Amino acid sequence: MNLPRLGVNIDHVATLRNARGENYPSPVQAALSCEKYGADGITAHLREDRRHIRDTDVSEIIKNITIPLNFEMAPTNEMVEIAININPNACCIVPEKREEVTTEGGIDIKKNQDLLRPKIEKIKKNNILVSLFIDASEEQIKLAKEIGADIVEIHTGEYCRKINYLEDGQNEFERIKEAAIFADEIGLELHLGHGITFDSVKELSKIKEVKEFNIGHFIISESVFIGLQNSIKKFKEIIEEERKNL
Ligand code: PXP
Repeated sequence: MNLPRLGVNIDHVATLRNARGENYPSPVQAALSCEKYGADGITAHLREDRRHIRDTDVSEIIKNITIPLNFEMAPTNEMVEIAININPNACCIVPEKREEVTTEGGIDIKKNQDLLRPKIEKIKKNNILVSLFIDASEEQIKLAKEIGADIVEIHTGEYCRKINYLEDGQNEFERIKEAAIFADEIGLELHLGHGITFDSVKELSKIKEVKEFNIGHFIISESVFIGLQNSIKKFKEIIEEERKNL
């Protein structure tokens, strides 16, 4: 059975460390523990303001893990240089606003294609895969393909929030599913990320085109109660169970 990979976003460990200004909990140790407990990849977002992950975290993580690193970054020249320097498996390009608490929506490729195109080209020349974090829209997916992306990661935040608050998320689910089918048809690898919980991953695993989930906040939050190992294990079990039933 070809299961979707589970990428764990460890930014939230850095947020906790920085809240006290100490050197713990360590994002590097978190990445190593995630690997040990069965994560298929690590995601880290080096924000322009360095509010959670720092440059040294990324370089230490890549030196120490053996699973792929998905390096999340804004489309800036500085980040492109850093990415080439650290050489992750993939770069996931996200929009970044200083005032936002987290990445609030996908990048608008239509508006930003002239900015994105040369950066994507440069990253790919260095044999790093390029993923674009976008909203579930056929137009955005088409443009992602046109400007050279290998992967699209669909923003699942709105759907997941509805599931958490026991609202009807059927329209959002259908939108994500249609986007996934379309991306797969035109030859893009399909990832999902943002706001995913045990309940939402159960539903999203029914979309057979999904190759990877990137999950952070809920895994780290749930670790407070059941531990990182169990949190990762439970996500993997839910995904596997749903895939068996497809
Ligand atoms: N994927 C992308 C592109 C993101 O920006 C984030 C949030 O940093 C995630 C996945 C993980 O989202 P969450 O922390 O809500 O699980």
